[in-house]
Amino acid sequence: MFPVSLPTNSFLVAALSLTLTRLSCSFLSVPEIPHIATYFGTKTRYEDVNPHLLRDGLSVNTSVLKPPPTERCSPVHLTAVVRHGSRYPTVKNIRRIQKLSELVRREASRGSEGSEGWLREVRSRWDMWYTEDMDGQLVSKGRDDLRQLARRLAVLFPSLLSDQNRRSGRIRFLTSSKHRCVSSVEAFQEGLQQHWGHHGETVDGTEEVEYRHEVDDELMRFFERCRGYVEGVEKNRSALMEVDAFKRGEEMEGVRRRMAERLDLPQHRLTPDLVEAAFFLCSYELSIKSLHSPWCFLFDESDAKVLEYKSDLKQYWKRSHGHAINGLSSCPLFHHVFRTLDKAGRPRRSTEASPEPASILVGHAETLLPLLSLLGLYKDPDPPTANNYQSQQGRTFRTSRIVPYAANLLFVLYDCQRGPRLQLLLNESPVRFPGLEKEDAPLYRDVRATYRHLLDGCNFHRECERGPGGRGPNTEL
Ligand SMILES: *[C@@H]1O[C@H](CO)[C@@H](O)[C@H](O)[C@H]1NC(C)=O
Ligand SMILES: *[C@@H]1O[C@H](CO)[C@@H](O)[C@H](O)[C@H]1NC(C)=O
Repeated sequence: MFPVSLPTNSFLVAALSLTLTRLSCSFLSVPEIPHIATYFGTKTRYEDVNPHLLRDGLSVNTSVLKPPPTERCSPVHLTAVVRHGSRYPTVKNIRRIQKLSELVRREASRGSEGSEGWLREVRSRWDMWYTEDMDGQLVSKGRDDLRQLARRLAVLFPSLLSDQNRRSGRIRFLTSSKHRCVSSVEAFQEGLQQHWGHHGETVDGTEEVEYRHEVDDELMRFFERCRGYVEGVEKNRSALMEVDAFKRGEEMEGVRRRMAERLDLPQHRLTPDLVEAAFFLCSYELSIKSLHSPWCFLFDESDAKVLEYKSDLKQYWKRSHGHAINGLSSCPLFHHVFRTLDKAGRPRRSTEASPEPASILVGHAETLLPLLSLLGLYKDPDPPTANNYQSQQGRTFRTSRIVPYAANLLFVLYDCQRGPRLQLLLNESPVRFPGLEKEDAPLYRDVRATYRHLLDGCNFHRECERGPGGRGPNTEL
């Protein structure tokens, strides 16, 4: 019943009236990618950020590790903060998809006889297959995301994610309690096992994996425990007023008008939520089933950019630089990471046990964005607002690039001749520390000096319990 694979570049009507029987099997086995796949915000696939993985999900570029070539260095510790892999929609979005699908079906059944429109095609080729019990769970593609990430990281860091370290339980695994994160940390461990032991198809070999991980919501879901954040931002409509204003603004109205025209529906029937539901539907069909869904044909690239901006606005004000408390709520995780790095970088006598080689922390986009913000990353000169869509086209704050499924922030500590050095990678590409842009892997003591104000402060209780009279959530760091 599902559309299998559709050409990307034709008009939708022409594309959909192509009889699928004309498509050869070999063509069907190579799913094409919607032209809007890089604009799905937090619903973007990892492969659409790193397209070389579409050809080979295990390919690794070892030159991303960049300690200074003039010094002898070896990696001594890896901390990876990882987002869960591809997942089903949550109940809220499943209900929206349901409403959209009912609307379209109702209208389709009234469509004039013999019309060859898009509605008829969706009606005959697409079924509402999402059910509420799927609620945000990891999909099998999401397990693959984490298995493959683990295997690539094992190639990048063979001495840290070694079989010996894995077997002896020296690699630390922490996860959020959410089902999709626990499944992800298990899949990561399966990936390491596949890398070191059972190569090839070991879908059934999963039983052999002895999972070792701890659940820690204080570290991985700090945002729901920070009262100042929950009350000042999450439950505070005026903290997100830019998002609401953009939703009603001319750019979003334009997307809605064009979608209504394509659907041949009166515009008032299509709420902004339903417009977004169709966009998400295109993303879910791709990330879950690798399908180029007919829903994707409702949007052109400029529509997708507007919808991406809408979701970036939301993440910016709700999880990132928009309010200082968003970043400060991640202080427990920030301190945890630096305590781990401190220990790993400390000089040791040869008799002492070697430090923890790696720490894998699995959470959410809502875990990563505040931490990245606290570190000062992806902060553009002007904040994105409802009114500056045009001037924000070159922004670095693009959630499609920063927090796709399986997004990962790597802290790599090297032992070098001049002392320990630290390198950051986001989604397996090097990222430089703000204020230390001259080097990929500055001396660890320089990184500590840069973040001195946070290392000495950033007290979760003080920041999170601050009353409205104190420093409010609007104060910039
Ligand atoms: C590998 O990574 C380096 C450093 O980020 C980059 O310059 C280079 O283009 C990458 N090579 C490939 C083939 O992607
Ligand atoms: C809600 O957000 C607005 C705008 O950011 C802010 O001025 C106000 O203090 C916040 N309210 C609470 C209760 O924190």
